[in-house]
Amino acid sequence: MVLDSDTVLVAGKAGEPAATQLAAFLRPASGLNLAIVPSPGQDGTVIALAQDKGMADFGPEGYRLEVTPKKVTLSAPTQAGLFYAIQTLRQLLPPLIFSARPVTNVAWRIPCLTIKDRPRFGWRGLMLDTGHDFQHVPFIFRFIDLMALHKFNILHWHITDLGTFPLEIRNYPKLQDPATLGTRMRGEPKRGVKPGRYTQAEVREVVQYAAACHITVVPEIDMPGHSTPALIAYPQFDCPVPHRTGEWDRWEYCVGNEKTYGFLQDVLSQVIELFPSPFIHIGCDECPKDHWKKCPVCQAKMKAESLRNENELQSYFVRRIEEFLNSRGRRLIGWDEILEGGIAPNAAVMAWRVEKQAAAIAAKAGHDVVMAATSHLYFDYPETTTPLEKVYSFEPAPPGLTPEQAHHILGAQAQMWTDNHPTEKEIERLVYPRACAVSEVVWSPADPRDYCGFVQRLSVHAERLAALGIDFDTPAGKTG
Ligand code: ACM
Ligand code: ZN
Repeated sequence: MVLDSDTVLVAGKAGEPAATQLAAFLRPASGLNLAIVPSPGQDGTVIALAQDKGMADFGPEGYRLEVTPKKVTLSAPTQAGLFYAIQTLRQLLPPLIFSARPVTNVAWRIPCLTIKDRPRFGWRGLMLDTGHDFQHVPFIFRFIDLMALHKFNILHWHITDLGTFPLEIRNYPKLQDPATLGTRMRGEPKRGVKPGRYTQAEVREVVQYAAACHITVVPEIDMPGHSTPALIAYPQFDCPVPHRTGEWDRWEYCVGNEKTYGFLQDVLSQVIELFPSPFIHIGCDECPKDHWKKCPVCQAKMKAESLRNENELQSYFVRRIEEFLNSRGRRLIGWDEILEGGIAPNAAVMAWRVEKQAAAIAAKAGHDVVMAATSHLYFDYPETTTPLEKVYSFEPAPPGLTPEQAHHILGAQAQMWTDNHPTEKEIERLVYPRACAVSEVVWSPADPRDYCGFVQRLSVHAERLAALGIDFDTPAGKTG
Protein backbone atom coordinates (compact mmCIF):
# COMPACT_ATOMS: atom_id res chain seq x y z
CA MET A 1 0.00 0.00 0.00
CA VAL A 2 1.14 3.56 -0.65
CA LEU A 3 0.47 6.46 1.67
CA ASP A 4 -0.46 9.68 -0.14
CA SER A 5 -2.65 12.74 0.15
CA ASP A 6 -5.77 10.65 -0.59
CA THR A 7 -5.10 8.31 2.35
CA VAL A 8 -7.49 8.68 5.27
CA LEU A 9 -7.26 7.46 8.83
CA VAL A 10 -10.46 5.70 9.83
CA ALA A 11 -11.21 5.57 13.53
CA GLY A 12 -14.20 5.46 15.81
CA LYS A 13 -14.12 7.21 19.16
CA ALA A 14 -11.83 4.61 20.77
CA GLY A 15 -9.33 4.67 17.90
CA GLU A 16 -9.22 8.44 17.62
CA PRO A 17 -6.41 9.22 20.14
CA ALA A 18 -4.12 6.71 18.42
CA ALA A 19 -5.10 8.01 14.98
CA THR A 20 -4.23 11.55 16.08
CA GLN A 21 -0.81 10.34 17.27
CA LEU A 22 -0.22 8.43 14.03
CA ALA A 23 -1.07 11.49 11.92
CA ALA A 24 1.39 13.55 14.00
CA PHE A 25 4.14 10.94 13.59
CA LEU A 26 3.71 10.85 9.80
CA ARG A 27 3.31 14.59 9.18
CA PRO A 28 6.87 16.05 9.49
CA ALA A 29 8.59 13.86 6.92
CA SER A 30 5.68 13.14 4.55
CA GLY A 31 4.09 16.58 4.71
CA LEU A 32 0.73 14.78 4.70
CA ASN A 33 -2.10 16.10 6.81
CA LEU A 34 -4.11 12.90 6.94
CA ALA A 35 -7.77 13.36 7.81
CA ILE A 36 -9.34 11.27 10.55
CA VAL A 37 -12.82 10.13 9.52
CA PRO A 38 -15.37 7.75 11.08
CA SER A 39 -15.81 5.69 7.89
CA PRO A 40 -13.91 5.40 4.59
CA GLY A 41 -15.01 7.16 1.40
CA GLN A 42 -14.86 5.68 -2.09
CA ASP A 43 -11.33 6.50 -3.18
CA GLY A 44 -7.92 6.39 -1.69
CA THR A 45 -6.15 4.11 0.68
CA VAL A 46 -7.15 3.64 4.28
CA ILE A 47 -5.45 3.16 7.63
CA ALA A 48 -8.07 1.86 10.04
CA LEU A 49 -7.44 1.89 13.80
CA ALA A 50 -9.77 0.05 16.15
CA GLN A 51 -9.66 -0.83 19.81
CA ASP A 52 -11.21 -4.27 20.06
CA LYS A 53 -11.80 -5.46 23.60
CA GLY A 54 -12.59 -8.90 22.21
CA MET A 55 -8.88 -9.37 21.49
CA ALA A 56 -8.07 -9.94 25.16
CA ASP A 57 -5.89 -12.93 24.30
CA PHE A 58 -3.35 -10.46 22.82
CA GLY A 59 -2.68 -9.26 26.39
CA PRO A 60 -2.59 -5.66 27.61
CA GLU A 61 0.06 -4.57 25.09
CA GLY A 62 -0.40 -6.84 22.06
CA TYR A 63 -1.74 -5.85 18.65
CA ARG A 64 -2.56 -7.03 15.16
CA LEU A 65 -1.41 -5.22 12.03
CA GLU A 66 -2.57 -6.17 8.55
CA VAL A 67 -1.46 -4.48 5.35
CA THR A 68 -3.23 -5.14 2.03
CA PRO A 69 -2.84 -3.14 -1.23
CA LYS A 70 -5.56 -0.63 -0.28
CA LYS A 71 -5.81 -0.85 3.47
CA VAL A 72 -3.81 -1.00 6.70
CA THR A 73 -5.71 -2.28 9.73
CA LEU A 74 -4.37 -1.75 13.25
CA SER A 75 -6.32 -3.45 16.00
CA ALA A 76 -5.65 -4.10 19.66
CA PRO A 77 -7.56 -4.66 22.87
CA THR A 78 -6.01 -1.58 24.51
CA GLN A 79 -4.74 1.90 23.68
CA ALA A 80 -1.21 0.70 24.50
CA GLY A 81 -1.54 -2.08 21.94
CA LEU A 82 -2.67 0.39 19.28
CA PHE A 83 0.31 2.59 20.13
CA TYR A 84 2.70 -0.32 19.58
CA ALA A 85 0.97 -1.18 16.29
CA ILE A 86 1.69 2.41 15.24
CA GLN A 87 5.37 2.06 16.18
CA THR A 88 5.61 -1.04 14.02
CA LEU A 89 3.81 0.67 11.14
CA ARG A 90 6.30 3.57 11.26
CA GLN A 91 9.11 1.04 10.90
CA LEU A 92 7.45 -0.56 7.86
CA LEU A 93 7.62 2.75 5.99
CA PRO A 94 10.87 3.93 4.32
CA PRO A 95 13.36 4.98 7.05
CA LEU A 96 13.16 8.65 6.03
CA ILE A 97 9.67 8.78 7.57
CA PHE A 98 11.60 9.53 10.79
CA SER A 99 13.04 12.75 9.37
CA ALA A 100 11.98 15.91 11.21
CA ARG A 101 12.01 17.80 7.89
CA PRO A 102 9.85 17.24 4.78
CA VAL A 103 11.24 14.58 2.45
CA THR A 104 10.38 14.62 -1.24
CA ASN A 105 10.75 11.98 -3.95
CA VAL A 106 9.98 9.10 -1.63
CA ALA A 107 7.01 6.79 -2.23
CA TRP A 108 5.62 6.05 1.23
CA ARG A 109 5.18 2.39 0.51
CA ILE A 110 4.17 -0.19 3.13
CA PRO A 111 4.68 -3.90 2.40
CA CYS A 112 1.67 -6.22 2.51
CA LEU A 113 1.80 -8.49 5.55
CA THR A 114 0.08 -9.56 8.73
CA ILE A 115 1.72 -9.23 12.16
CA LYS A 116 0.39 -10.53 15.46
CA ASP A 117 2.60 -9.32 18.25
CA ARG A 118 2.82 -9.02 22.02
CA PRO A 119 5.67 -8.46 24.47
CA ARG A 120 7.37 -11.11 26.54
CA PHE A 121 7.79 -8.83 29.59
CA GLY A 122 5.66 -6.13 31.19
CA TRP A 123 8.68 -4.14 32.47
CA ARG A 124 10.76 -2.89 29.54
CA GLY A 125 12.85 -0.07 30.82
CA LEU A 126 15.62 2.43 30.52
CA MET A 127 17.09 4.24 33.51
CA LEU A 128 18.25 7.83 33.14
CA ASP A 129 20.47 9.28 35.88
CA THR A 130 19.99 12.98 36.56
CA GLY A 131 21.45 12.70 40.06
CA HIS A 132 25.10 12.65 39.04
CA ASP A 133 24.57 15.12 36.25
CA PHE A 134 21.59 17.24 35.28
CA GLN A 135 19.85 16.66 31.93
CA HIS A 136 17.64 19.32 30.37
CA VAL A 137 13.91 18.77 29.98
CA PRO A 138 13.90 18.84 26.12
CA PHE A 139 16.50 16.08 26.22
CA ILE A 140 14.22 13.99 28.45
CA PHE A 141 11.33 14.47 26.00
CA ARG A 142 13.56 13.24 23.19
CA PHE A 143 14.73 10.33 25.35
CA ILE A 144 11.05 9.40 25.76
CA ASP A 145 10.38 9.68 22.01
CA LEU A 146 13.22 7.27 21.31
CA MET A 147 12.01 4.90 24.02
CA ALA A 148 8.51 4.89 22.53
CA LEU A 149 9.85 3.93 19.13
CA HIS A 150 11.54 0.92 20.75
CA LYS A 151 8.40 -0.05 22.69
CA PHE A 152 9.94 0.57 26.10
CA ASN A 153 7.28 1.22 28.71
CA ILE A 154 9.24 2.20 31.84
CA LEU A 155 11.41 5.28 32.27
CA HIS A 156 13.20 4.74 35.57
CA TRP A 157 14.15 8.31 36.43
CA HIS A 158 17.09 8.17 38.85
CA ILE A 159 16.47 11.75 39.89
CA THR A 160 18.79 12.27 42.85
CA ASP A 161 22.23 11.01 43.77
CA LEU A 162 25.49 12.23 45.21
CA GLY A 163 25.89 14.90 42.50
CA THR A 164 22.65 16.79 42.63
CA PHE A 165 19.05 16.81 43.93
CA PRO A 166 17.37 18.57 41.01
CA LEU A 167 13.70 17.93 41.89
CA GLU A 168 11.84 20.94 43.28
CA ILE A 169 10.43 20.05 46.69
CA ARG A 170 8.17 22.63 48.33
CA ASN A 171 9.48 23.88 51.71
CA TYR A 172 13.03 22.69 50.97
CA PRO A 173 14.45 25.31 48.60
CA LYS A 174 18.07 24.64 49.50
CA LEU A 175 18.04 21.27 47.75
CA GLN A 176 18.88 23.01 44.48
CA ASP A 177 21.24 25.58 45.95
CA PRO A 178 24.42 25.35 43.80
CA ALA A 179 26.37 25.07 47.05
CA THR A 180 24.77 21.65 47.63
CA LEU A 181 26.25 20.09 44.52
CA GLY A 182 28.17 16.99 45.48
CA THR A 183 31.11 17.85 43.24
CA ARG A 184 31.83 20.84 45.47
CA MET A 185 33.48 18.25 47.69
CA ARG A 186 35.54 16.78 44.91
CA GLY A 187 37.45 19.88 43.82
CA GLU A 188 36.89 18.73 40.26
CA PRO A 189 36.21 21.85 38.23
CA LYS A 190 36.70 20.36 34.74
CA ARG A 191 33.51 18.46 34.04
CA GLY A 192 31.57 18.94 37.23
CA VAL A 193 27.87 18.58 37.81
CA LYS A 194 25.78 21.13 35.96
CA PRO A 195 23.44 22.93 38.33
CA GLY A 196 19.82 22.51 37.40
CA ARG A 197 16.32 22.12 38.67
CA TYR A 198 13.16 20.45 37.52
CA THR A 199 10.15 22.48 38.61
CA GLN A 200 7.14 20.45 39.64
CA ALA A 201 5.31 21.84 36.59
CA GLU A 202 8.05 20.50 34.30
CA VAL A 203 7.92 17.11 35.98
CA ARG A 204 4.16 16.96 35.42
CA GLU A 205 4.74 17.71 31.74
CA VAL A 206 7.32 14.94 31.47
CA VAL A 207 5.03 12.44 33.19
CA GLN A 208 2.09 13.40 30.98
CA TYR A 209 4.16 13.26 27.81
CA ALA A 210 5.48 9.83 28.75
CA ALA A 211 1.96 8.60 29.58
CA ALA A 212 0.82 9.56 26.08
CA CYS A 213 3.59 7.23 24.85
CA HIS A 214 2.37 4.52 27.26
CA ILE A 215 5.52 4.95 29.33
CA THR A 216 5.32 4.99 33.12
CA VAL A 217 7.89 7.20 34.81
CA VAL A 218 9.17 5.42 37.92
CA PRO A 219 10.87 8.05 40.09
CA GLU A 220 13.87 7.23 42.25
CA ILE A 221 14.87 9.30 45.24
CA ASP A 222 18.04 7.59 46.40
CA MET A 223 18.24 6.96 50.16
CA PRO A 224 19.61 6.34 52.76
CA GLY A 225 23.01 6.63 51.01
CA HIS A 226 23.90 8.59 47.86
CA SER A 227 22.30 11.59 49.55
CA THR A 228 25.18 14.06 49.68
CA PRO A 229 23.39 17.11 48.20
CA ALA A 230 20.38 16.83 50.54
CA LEU A 231 22.69 16.49 53.53
CA ILE A 232 24.83 19.45 52.54
CA ALA A 233 21.61 21.46 52.22
CA TYR A 234 20.01 20.15 55.42
CA PRO A 235 22.75 18.89 57.77
CA GLN A 236 20.19 18.36 60.53
CA PHE A 237 19.33 15.01 58.84
CA ASP A 238 22.98 13.88 58.87
CA CYS A 239 24.54 11.82 61.66
CA PRO A 240 26.17 14.11 64.25
CA VAL A 241 29.65 12.71 63.59
CA PRO A 242 32.56 14.32 61.77
CA HIS A 243 33.06 13.50 58.09
CA ARG A 244 36.48 12.41 57.01
CA THR A 245 38.44 15.16 55.26
CA GLY A 246 37.70 15.13 51.54
CA GLU A 247 34.99 12.53 51.95
CA TRP A 248 32.11 13.35 49.63
CA ASP A 249 30.78 10.07 48.42
CA ARG A 250 27.39 8.51 49.10
CA TRP A 251 26.60 10.28 52.37
CA GLU A 252 23.85 8.56 54.30
CA TYR A 253 20.94 10.03 56.23
CA CYS A 254 20.87 9.61 60.01
CA VAL A 255 18.20 6.93 60.20
CA GLY A 256 18.17 6.97 63.99
CA ASN A 257 16.75 10.48 63.87
CA GLU A 258 12.92 10.70 63.68
CA LYS A 259 13.21 14.07 61.94
CA THR A 260 14.84 12.30 58.98
CA TYR A 261 11.66 10.25 58.49
CA GLY A 262 9.60 13.45 58.60
CA PHE A 263 11.77 15.01 55.89
CA LEU A 264 11.71 11.93 53.66
CA GLN A 265 7.96 11.58 54.04
CA ASP A 266 7.56 15.23 53.00
CA VAL A 267 9.71 14.53 49.95
CA LEU A 268 7.96 11.27 49.08
CA SER A 269 4.48 12.80 49.54
CA GLN A 270 5.35 15.32 46.85
CA VAL A 271 6.90 12.62 44.68
CA ILE A 272 3.66 10.63 44.98
CA GLU A 273 1.65 13.69 43.93
CA LEU A 274 3.83 14.13 40.85
CA PHE A 275 4.24 10.53 39.70
CA PRO A 276 1.25 8.19 39.32
CA SER A 277 3.63 5.20 39.03
CA PRO A 278 2.54 2.23 41.18
CA PHE A 279 6.23 1.79 42.09
CA ILE A 280 8.34 4.36 43.89
CA HIS A 281 12.07 3.60 43.83
CA ILE A 282 14.02 4.46 46.98
CA GLY A 283 17.49 3.44 45.80
CA CYS A 284 19.19 1.93 48.84
CA ASP A 285 22.33 1.01 46.89
CA GLU A 286 25.83 1.17 48.32
CA CYS A 287 24.96 2.86 51.61
CA PRO A 288 28.32 3.07 53.42
CA LYS A 289 26.84 2.90 56.99
CA ASP A 290 30.18 4.16 58.41
CA HIS A 291 28.56 7.07 60.14
CA TRP A 292 25.82 4.87 61.62
CA LYS A 293 28.50 2.84 63.40
CA LYS A 294 29.79 5.96 65.15
CA CYS A 295 26.50 7.83 65.53
CA PRO A 296 24.97 7.85 69.03
CA VAL A 297 21.51 8.51 67.57
CA CYS A 298 21.67 5.55 65.17
CA GLN A 299 23.15 3.31 67.86
CA ALA A 300 20.37 4.29 70.28
CA LYS A 301 17.77 3.41 67.62
CA MET A 302 19.41 0.02 67.09
CA LYS A 303 19.28 -0.68 70.80
CA ALA A 304 15.67 0.46 71.15
CA GLU A 305 14.57 -1.67 68.18
CA SER A 306 16.80 -4.69 69.05
CA LEU A 307 18.67 -4.43 65.76
CA ARG A 308 21.87 -6.47 65.78
CA ASN A 309 23.87 -4.63 63.15
CA GLU A 310 23.79 -1.78 60.64
CA ASN A 311 22.32 -3.99 57.89
CA GLU A 312 19.34 -4.57 60.14
CA LEU A 313 19.19 -0.84 60.79
CA GLN A 314 18.96 -0.30 57.04
CA SER A 315 16.18 -2.89 56.83
CA TYR A 316 14.34 -1.13 59.65
CA PHE A 317 14.60 2.10 57.67
CA VAL A 318 13.35 0.45 54.46
CA ARG A 319 10.41 -1.14 56.27
CA ARG A 320 9.37 2.23 57.65
CA ILE A 321 9.56 3.83 54.22
CA GLU A 322 7.67 0.87 52.78
CA GLU A 323 4.89 1.23 55.35
CA PHE A 324 4.59 4.87 54.39
CA LEU A 325 4.47 4.16 50.64
CA ASN A 326 2.01 1.28 51.10
CA SER A 327 -0.22 3.54 53.22
CA ARG A 328 -0.37 5.85 50.19
CA GLY A 329 -1.23 2.99 47.85
CA ARG A 330 2.23 2.65 46.29
CA ARG A 331 4.81 -0.11 46.17
CA LEU A 332 8.46 0.18 47.12
CA ILE A 333 11.20 -0.90 44.76
CA GLY A 334 14.89 -0.69 45.63
CA TRP A 335 18.29 -1.89 44.44
CA ASP A 336 19.13 -5.40 45.61
CA GLU A 337 20.86 -4.17 48.79
CA ILE A 338 17.35 -4.09 50.29
CA LEU A 339 17.77 -7.86 50.65
CA GLU A 340 20.57 -7.39 53.17
CA GLY A 341 19.40 -7.43 56.76
CA GLY A 342 15.98 -8.79 55.73
CA ILE A 343 13.75 -7.51 52.93
CA ALA A 344 10.61 -5.45 53.59
CA PRO A 345 7.45 -7.54 53.15
CA ASN A 346 6.03 -6.14 49.90
CA ALA A 347 9.18 -4.74 48.33
CA ALA A 348 10.25 -5.35 44.74
CA VAL A 349 13.93 -5.76 43.95
CA MET A 350 15.98 -4.22 41.19
CA ALA A 351 18.79 -6.72 40.69
CA TRP A 352 22.06 -5.16 39.54
CA ARG A 353 24.63 -7.48 41.17
CA VAL A 354 24.27 -10.66 39.17
CA GLU A 355 27.15 -12.31 41.04
CA LYS A 356 25.13 -12.11 44.28
CA GLN A 357 22.26 -14.16 42.79
CA ALA A 358 20.02 -11.38 44.08
CA ALA A 359 17.33 -11.96 41.47
CA ALA A 360 16.90 -15.65 42.16
CA ILE A 361 16.98 -15.14 45.94
CA ALA A 362 14.28 -12.48 45.77
CA ALA A 363 12.08 -14.36 43.28
CA LYS A 364 12.30 -17.54 45.35
CA ALA A 365 11.19 -15.53 48.38
CA GLY A 366 8.15 -14.38 46.38
CA HIS A 367 9.30 -10.82 45.60
CA ASP A 368 8.95 -9.17 42.22
CA VAL A 369 12.25 -8.52 40.46
CA VAL A 370 13.47 -6.25 37.69
CA MET A 371 16.75 -7.25 36.07
CA ALA A 372 19.28 -4.44 35.75
CA ALA A 373 22.48 -6.48 35.51
CA THR A 374 25.71 -4.48 35.65
CA SER A 375 27.35 -7.18 33.54
CA HIS A 376 25.13 -6.61 30.50
CA LEU A 377 22.90 -3.58 31.01
CA TYR A 378 25.09 -0.69 32.24
CA PHE A 379 25.38 1.69 29.32
CA ASP A 380 27.71 4.11 31.05
CA TYR A 381 30.32 1.45 30.33
CA PRO A 382 31.84 1.82 26.86
CA GLU A 383 31.08 -0.65 24.11
CA THR A 384 34.53 -2.15 24.55
CA THR A 385 33.39 -3.35 28.00
CA THR A 386 29.75 -4.07 27.22
CA PRO A 387 29.48 -4.71 23.49
CA LEU A 388 26.25 -4.94 21.55
CA GLU A 389 26.45 -8.71 21.18
CA LYS A 390 26.81 -9.17 24.93
CA VAL A 391 23.79 -6.94 25.57
CA TYR A 392 21.80 -8.91 23.01
CA SER A 393 22.75 -12.17 24.71
CA PHE A 394 21.21 -11.14 28.03
CA GLU A 395 18.54 -13.49 29.33
CA PRO A 396 16.32 -11.81 31.92
CA ALA A 397 15.02 -15.00 33.55
CA PRO A 398 17.70 -16.40 35.89
CA PRO A 399 18.16 -20.17 35.73
CA GLY A 400 16.77 -22.54 38.32
CA LEU A 401 13.40 -20.91 38.96
CA THR A 402 10.09 -22.76 38.95
CA PRO A 403 7.47 -21.29 36.57
CA GLU A 404 5.75 -19.76 39.61
CA GLN A 405 9.02 -18.12 40.74
CA ALA A 406 9.90 -17.02 37.19
CA HIS A 407 6.60 -15.16 37.14
CA HIS A 408 8.18 -12.70 39.60
CA ILE A 409 10.71 -11.57 36.98
CA LEU A 410 8.84 -8.51 35.74
CA GLY A 411 11.36 -7.72 33.03
CA ALA A 412 14.60 -5.84 32.53
CA GLN A 413 16.06 -2.42 31.94
CA ALA A 414 19.31 -0.77 30.87
CA GLN A 415 20.96 1.90 33.01
CA MET A 416 22.43 5.18 31.80
CA TRP A 417 24.50 6.47 34.71
CA THR A 418 26.09 9.89 34.38
CA ASP A 419 28.95 9.68 36.91
CA ASN A 420 31.36 10.49 34.07
CA HIS A 421 29.38 13.55 33.01
CA PRO A 422 28.67 12.63 29.40
CA THR A 423 27.15 15.33 27.22
CA GLU A 424 23.57 14.75 26.06
CA LYS A 425 24.88 13.72 22.64
CA GLU A 426 27.29 11.27 24.30
CA ILE A 427 24.42 9.80 26.31
CA GLU A 428 22.50 9.03 23.13
CA ARG A 429 25.58 7.41 21.61
CA LEU A 430 26.05 5.24 24.69
CA VAL A 431 22.39 4.22 24.76
CA TYR A 432 21.97 3.52 21.02
CA PRO A 433 22.20 1.05 19.44
CA ARG A 434 22.59 -1.03 22.62
CA ALA A 435 19.04 -0.11 23.70
CA CYS A 436 17.80 -1.62 20.41
CA ALA A 437 19.24 -4.94 21.62
CA VAL A 438 17.53 -4.56 25.01
CA SER A 439 14.24 -3.72 23.37
CA GLU A 440 14.38 -7.02 21.51
CA VAL A 441 15.47 -8.94 24.62
CA VAL A 442 12.46 -7.74 26.63
CA TRP A 443 9.89 -7.79 23.84
CA SER A 444 10.62 -10.87 21.74
CA PRO A 445 10.34 -14.52 22.73
CA ALA A 446 13.43 -16.02 24.36
CA ASP A 447 13.70 -18.55 21.60
CA PRO A 448 14.92 -18.18 18.92
CA ARG A 449 17.38 -15.37 19.63
CA ASP A 450 19.37 -14.65 16.47
CA TYR A 451 22.22 -12.13 16.73
CA CYS A 452 23.05 -12.31 13.00
CA GLY A 453 19.44 -11.58 12.15
CA PHE A 454 19.44 -8.73 14.66
CA VAL A 455 22.56 -7.21 13.10
CA GLN A 456 20.97 -7.37 9.65
CA ARG A 457 17.82 -5.69 10.88
CA LEU A 458 19.91 -3.15 12.77
CA SER A 459 21.54 -1.91 9.58
CA VAL A 460 18.09 -0.83 8.32
CA HIS A 461 17.16 0.48 11.76
CA ALA A 462 20.38 2.54 11.74
CA GLU A 463 18.91 4.50 8.81
CA ARG A 464 15.85 5.29 10.93
CA LEU A 465 18.01 6.42 13.83
CA ALA A 466 20.21 8.44 11.44
CA ALA A 467 17.07 10.25 10.27
CA LEU A 468 16.47 11.01 13.97
CA GLY A 469 19.99 12.38 14.37
CA ILE A 470 21.73 9.36 15.91
CA ASP A 471 24.61 7.99 13.86
CA PHE A 472 26.60 4.91 14.73
CA ASP A 473 28.68 2.16 13.19
CA THR A 474 26.70 -1.05 13.00
CA PRO A 475 28.49 -4.38 13.20
CA ALA A 476 27.46 -4.82 9.54
CA GLY A 477 29.20 -1.56 8.55
CA LYS A 478 28.74 2.19 8.77
CA THR A 479 25.37 3.57 7.74
CA GLY A 480 23.55 6.83 8.05
C1 ACM B 1 24.21 0.97 41.37
O1 ACM B 1 24.89 0.75 40.35
N1 ACM B 1 24.77 1.63 42.38
C2 ACM B 1 22.86 0.49 41.50
ZN1 ZN C 1 22.88 8.63 62.82
